[in-house]
Amino acid sequence: MLFKSTHLATAVLGLLPAANARLRTCVPRDLPAIKVFGLQVVDISAKEHRGYEDWMPSPMTGMTGPKRPIDFCNVTITYTHPGQGDRVNVYVWLPLEDWNGRFLGQGGGGWTAGWEMSLAPSVAAGYAVAITDAGHQVIYSLADMNDTRSWTLTSPGNINWVLLQNFASRALDDLPKVAQQVIKGFYGEPAKYSYWSGCSTGGRQGLMSAQRYPKNFDGIVAAAPAINWATFVVAELWAHITMRKVDYHPPSCELEAIRQEAIKACDELDGVKDGVVAAPGLCKFDAKSIVGQTFDCGGVVRKISAKAAEVANAIWEGPVRNGRRVWYGLPHEAPLSALAATECDTQNEKCKSKPFAISISWIRDVVMRGQDIDLSSLNEDEYWSILHRSVNEFASIMSTDDPDLSEFKASGGKMITWHGLADQLIPVNGSSDYYEKVLALDPDARSYYRYFEAPGVTHCAGGPGAAPNAVLDTLVKWVEQGIAPETLDAATVPADKAEAARHRPLCLYPLVAAYVGGELAEAGSFECAESFGVGKRHTEL
Ligand SMILES: *[C@@H]1O[C@H](CO)[C@@H](O)[C@H](O)[C@H]1NC(C)=O
Ligand SMILES: *[C@@H]1O[C@H](CO)[C@@H](O)[C@H](O)[C@H]1NC(C)=O
Ligand SMILES: *[C@@H]1O[C@H](CO)[C@@H](O)[C@H](O)[C@H]1NC(C)=O
Repeated sequence: MLFKSTHLATAVLGLLPAANARLRTCVPRDLPAIKVFGLQVVDISAKEHRGYEDWMPSPMTGMTGPKRPIDFCNVTITYTHPGQGDRVNVYVWLPLEDWNGRFLGQGGGGWTAGWEMSLAPSVAAGYAVAITDAGHQVIYSLADMNDTRSWTLTSPGNINWVLLQNFASRALDDLPKVAQQVIKGFYGEPAKYSYWSGCSTGGRQGLMSAQRYPKNFDGIVAAAPAINWATFVVAELWAHITMRKVDYHPPSCELEAIRQEAIKACDELDGVKDGVVAAPGLCKFDAKSIVGQTFDCGGVVRKISAKAAEVANAIWEGPVRNGRRVWYGLPHEAPLSALAATECDTQNEKCKSKPFAISISWIRDVVMRGQDIDLSSLNEDEYWSILHRSVNEFASIMSTDDPDLSEFKASGGKMITWHGLADQLIPVNGSSDYYEKVLALDPDARSYYRYFEAPGVTHCAGGPGAAPNAVLDTLVKWVEQGIAPETLDAATVPADKAEAARHRPLCLYPLVAAYVGGELAEAGSFECAESFGVGKRHTEL
């Protein structure tokens, strides 16, 4: 690896030797000149911040430690790729005390290349941490993401390829190189180990690093990755194409009633009645089977309609063209409120399509170059044309689905992906599909890349299932001590604080956690097995 060291960790997850020799002060003139091929620094700011408390722990950041006041050196590097007219900011936060000797790059979500909210929890855990804004300066909130065309286009009709490429890949290569020079300047030595952690877009960024910049990180957490972007972001519109085709836009209460019936029908296929569908592959629930059944919609009794059943089946099946599946659908357990959303009048009688914001902005502000098109009125031919154009023009930039990880393997990297089986935004089968392609190319891939599925967990976090809770620590043990994870520890996050968390192992794909007897809340009641068939049954909730 670039920053290889012969030192071994003194204590896993503890401090690495000599990590605390801080040489310089936290002022710009004391930081070294940053030299990275192809980029030119235009501004550096550095300021000490002590007792910083204005932050919240968030499961989205992958850091699970408790909140505490932190002391850090806040460095911002602004650079350009000369001739390209861009201006990229890298934010590096350096712990003043108790640096653990490691560098951590944190990923973003949606159109955001890095969340500001992931900096403080990482410092609290001892990491020197950095994020990038990839040059489009959106690092703060989801609200910023509705203004995509302000950076994806140079003018209506014209794509800003420089910023798109920064977001897709280039800025991810710059980030660890810039950050390690700042770290070396500040502490007198570079970090001994370099890690990446991210979910969703952050997961895609992690895979991009493994595929294109295989020497940059010793370890990568690439959770619920937004890989296959050029395909799945358009596939996310499929429910609305079906709604237009059947000329019915179901209110969310109707789709939710259908989903609850599917969960009821499939819950016990995994041997355990716990409201979680851990065996989505065995779930063959057909929404047509409950047409006419009554349900409650905000106090009004209604009947499941045949057209709503068709919409639900379509979203589970995924886009199908002339009988051929073009992309994966969502599992039955995934909430339908994101990708099949509708806006209704107060009686829930008249509804219209409300497509997912990122699909709208990707199609309108990138694929269609800012043309104002109404995505809720697309017919099927127009839809296939957009999908074709998206894949044809943007897969090589955005899709991040190259299964050849041989260089990452050769440089000693390790990577973990986990994906929630109730993910409502990114079809989880895109991740298993990628993992299987990696394994097909290299049957030994488990020696450096491991994939886990989390039943009942929604996008990156949330849902009734047990979510993994210390994936980065697990990765650090793999990288620094050679302990490869057979399972990930996971726990539910009960909505009711009085309720105890349930613990489950997440098994190395394609193994599943089969119930073998004992308390449902205990991880030891489950064993990794090839199928649920071998386990016992537990039918009381
Ligand atoms: C860190 O520095 C940047 C750039 O000067 C500034 O915008 C930001 O508010 C600072 N953050 C904290 C928490 O001090
Ligand atoms: C984006 O959202 C904000 C806040 O919701 C709103 O004020 C702004 O007008 C929106 N911008 C666009 C381009 O839609
Ligand atoms: C997803 O993959 C599983 C196997 O991992 C398979 O059983 C299931 O049918 C697939 N679902 C979809 C929607 O393709």
